[in-house]
Amino acid sequence: MLIRRRRGWETPEAHATPEALVVGRRAALGAGAALFAAPALAQQGPPIAPAPDPAFTAMRNPRFRPERDITAMREAATYNNYYEFGSHKGIWPAAQRLPQRPWTIRIEGLVEREREIGIEEILRIPAEERVLRLRCVEAWAMTVPWTGFAMSELLRLASPLSSARYVVFETAMHRPSMTGLRQSWYPWPYTEGCTIAEAANELAFVATGMYGRPLPPQNGGPVRILFPWKYGFKSGKSIVAVRFAAERPVSFWERLQGNEYGFWANVNPEVPHPRWSQATERLLGTNERVPTRLFNGYGEFVAGLYTGLQHERLWA
Ligand code: MTE
Repeated sequence: MLIRRRRGWETPEAHATPEALVVGRRAALGAGAALFAAPALAQQGPPIAPAPDPAFTAMRNPRFRPERDITAMREAATYNNYYEFGSHKGIWPAAQRLPQRPWTIRIEGLVEREREIGIEEILRIPAEERVLRLRCVEAWAMTVPWTGFAMSELLRLASPLSSARYVVFETAMHRPSMTGLRQSWYPWPYTEGCTIAEAANELAFVATGMYGRPLPPQNGGPVRILFPWKYGFKSGKSIVAVRFAAERPVSFWERLQGNEYGFWANVNPEVPHPRWSQATERLLGTNERVPTRLFNGYGEFVAGLYTGLQHERLWA
């Protein structure tokens, strides 16, 4: 069980080949096939992303400066973590089978009125484009132009009660396409959570598009969350429920390996993962290695959220 749990993205990619050789053939195929097969499949198989669409094009918000070159869409759309489709990076062809319509999000828990919101209502919220850095806990990173809206808009729609202190995001379970769900040792559904203050922070984002297109399913279409200052596993994909709670939730990776993946998971180059350094990261596309930054470089927006919380495990 322990060995199984350590497969996949829990292995930093810099160590993927040696680890794969140690733990066996399946993991080796996963790591290798994902890296080398994706470009070939891209030529013959389905398109990697929907066509550009004016409805998913929005004015860029200049407050969020990329400070890096934008990652090529091909890289961002063919190198993914989406465990419901499998524990390797090449899940994008399989993800095309996840129906994107109809789609609803349940609003539940400590709210004035529990209800379902259709994707059409979500898409009516005025959108902006933000170019944001995403830093995976595995030590790779990308910079992507996302279309969507501040998460505070979602809070406004949901009207949580004053007793709500946390938000839980639950992601889709579509058994016909998501063969990874058969891996029964994972605590499905994939859920993530944050405090109300984090969700209300202006940097927290709800994305419905990227590169001026509808969000491809492999990147979390039709709607995902983004916490750019936290490790990427906090940014749940294909959201189906938003739940408001009084108690701090235990999310997917924390339940699986709580000593390695905690609730806060803020990016910090000085706090290594128990099994690898977080000091640098590899940029998708160029493979350049660059220093990792505290809060992924977004401290000016979010550092204040954590004053007085030094006793918490803020960095893992
Ligand atoms: N959301 C779901 N539902 N399932 C997942 O496996 N992986 C997470 C996160 N959201 C994941 C998920 C991890 S580990 C990362 S790094 C990011 O998605 C990757 O997002 P990307 O594929 O768009 O780069």
